[in-house]
Amino acid sequence: MSKKKIFLVLLAVSMVSLLLHYEGQLRWTIFASCSHPSSVLKPNLTSIVFLKTHKTGSSTMQNLLFRFAERHNLMVALPTKECGNTFCYPSSFSTRFIHPGTLPANIITNHMHFNHNEVRRLMPKDTIYITILRESASMFESMFNYFQTECQSFKNGSLEAFLEEPLRYYQPNEPVMPARNALTFDLGGDKDRPVTDTAYVRDFVAEVDRSFSLVMITEYFDESLVLLRHLLSWDLDDILYVKLNMRAAGSKHSLSPGLTAKMRAWNSLDVQLYDHFNASLWQQLAALGPARVAEEVRLLQQAQERLMQSCFGGPMPLLRLAKQIKNKELRPWQPTNVDIMGYDLQANSQVQEFCLKLIMPEVQYTNILLRSQTTRRPVCNWT
Ligand SMILES: *[C@@H]1O[C@H](CO)[C@@H](O)[C@H](O)[C@H]1NC(C)=O
Ligand SMILES: *[C@@H]1O[C@H](CO)[C@@H](O)[C@H](O)[C@H]1NC(C)=O
Ligand SMILES: *[C@@H]1O[C@H](CO)[C@@H](O)[C@H](O)[C@H]1NC(C)=O
Repeated sequence: MSKKKIFLVLLAVSMVSLLLHYEGQLRWTIFASCSHPSSVLKPNLTSIVFLKTHKTGSSTMQNLLFRFAERHNLMVALPTKECGNTFCYPSSFSTRFIHPGTLPANIITNHMHFNHNEVRRLMPKDTIYITILRESASMFESMFNYFQTECQSFKNGSLEAFLEEPLRYYQPNEPVMPARNALTFDLGGDKDRPVTDTAYVRDFVAEVDRSFSLVMITEYFDESLVLLRHLLSWDLDDILYVKLNMRAAGSKHSLSPGLTAKMRAWNSLDVQLYDHFNASLWQQLAALGPARVAEEVRLLQQAQERLMQSCFGGPMPLLRLAKQIKNKELRPWQPTNVDIMGYDLQANSQVQEFCLKLIMPEVQYTNILLRSQTTRRPVCNWT
């Protein structure tokens, strides 16, 4: 071989090896961005199931998780079009209810009737499960009000009349929302189990305790967020929120002690669940130290005020009745007869997208995520 030929062969070999080298890296980068879209965070902290319960402040949590997912380029499993905005609630959750374009999922947070085995098929082994519970009487009052026209059981329209003779009105197979022990039902339990079956209640509470790393409590929302931040090693910025999906004051029913007692009796499984997890929340807060918790809550509230100032130039965006909100992206869905509040912005005000998302109702945000997730996906199945 001539020197020229040897040179050309050497050149070709080095070109090929260079190409292989870079292609390997290129492939690795693409592969990494497909299977671990979140390489900045430890992988064990990015697989989250938030079991979204009803009338507990869970929409605020969902919004927080949606924003977290977007910031870290994580995939949120979303319902198929046929299911609507929930995973075909109240049907027991099935992986069939997930839009295939939103898999593999890091986070799942839309409403579902929990079925641990099905969720397990979907999520990695080290997934962290979180949920939220609210005191049973105030939760039931809110639910009665919100689902008055949707629930056959609540059709009489009077909370007092219903609680006088609940079994006269109660229909165990409501197509939209169960009218009794709804939190137990959301968590996959038997809402109609008689409370005298103490073994059942004990086992169910223990099962929820085993499955969920953190059960937040609505009445102590900020304290719960402090625990969440510690559990997931998040930053303060990750837990900032604006309260969403609240009722107008006029849509709330004032509660006498007698009425409260009746609601608690009607939802006694939920009461036991709540009491257990409220006690456990306070144990965890005690373990962290009350002074430290108070300080972190103060920092959270301060950071929130700063955020409102920088996003909206004031303490809060305008709180309005849903029907008065002009910006369609910001108008919350509301059932008949109930005034849900939302936020509106001054006409022509320039607000960063991040700020808009803070106050965006769940239906609109879910649709935006669905669109962005199903279009942004690189082709992952070439390997
Ligand atoms: C995440 O993994 C680290 C070690 O890699 C471990 O110390 C930590 O406890 C894990 N966190 C959770 C919440 O599982
Ligand atoms: C609701 O129940 C009360 C008490 O039974 C009854 O007097 C009232 O007429 C009922 N209202 C409706 C709208 O059914
Ligand atoms: C939750 O538990 C704490 C601590 O035991 C108690 O002080 C508080 O009254 C409980 N909250 C409710 C709403 O039951």
